[in-house]
Amino acid sequence: MAEVIIVNNEEAAGRIYAQCVADLIRSKPDCVLGLATGSSPLAAYQALAHKVKDDHLDVSHVRGFALDEYAGLDPSHPQSYRSTITRTVVEPLGLTPDLVHVPNGALDTIRTAGHEYDRMIEAEGGVDVQILGIGTDGHIGFNEPGSSLASGTRIKTLTEQTREDNARFFDNDIDQVPTHCITQGIGTIMKARHLILLAFGDSKAEAIAETVEGGVSSFCPASALQLHPHATVIIDEAAASWL
Ligand code: GLP
Repeated sequence: MAEVIIVNNEEAAGRIYAQCVADLIRSKPDCVLGLATGSSPLAAYQALAHKVKDDHLDVSHVRGFALDEYAGLDPSHPQSYRSTITRTVVEPLGLTPDLVHVPNGALDTIRTAGHEYDRMIEAEGGVDVQILGIGTDGHIGFNEPGSSLASGTRIKTLTEQTREDNARFFDNDIDQVPTHCITQGIGTIMKARHLILLAFGDSKAEAIAETVEGGVSSFCPASALQLHPHATVIIDEAAASWL
């Protein structure tokens, strides 16, 4: 069963994440961070950036792997996950850009890109701490309901719900939201040594209840966390309100 921590706000959750990662960096300066996009991890990245500065941590050897990327969106597009990870993680933390990887969503190579990504993660020794948000339908990364719990990194179709949820990043125009993505699989995510899932607000309450108290099922991909030996779910009161 996942450990559930209820906090007052995103900043408090961020401080828990930052402390955990700072301890990791001290003991393993070339640790591997699993990175996520979305709004949920932003306060955590900010807290970590402050900690890196205040504690003078050397992050030059820290490595990173992002969860997912839109298919067919140019990496230089401001809403590509490559751009987002650069803007929200690599730059504020001062990570070495070449050590931070994002799945390659280019259409001509996308069929083989997933295997290569999984091989790269394995070759780097696996992810030490994976931060996760959750979709309102229980997705993690872009593993939508129905995704195999053993899946590796691969191309997936985005659901209408997720495209609607993410239209806010594309001028509120769903037609601009890509229809496909490349995402680490649930099996890939489950190989990380520690999972930290963050969720805030009422809109996540149902998905969190399914994740923590529902049966383990591909209909709520995040429920796979129940099978992980070291999973931490950090949520506010609103996200905890269906528990
Ligand atoms: C996207 C990302 C997920 C993220 C989800 C929720 O679909 N692929 O990794 O968890 O959005 O985003 P937010 O944290 O903004 O609610």
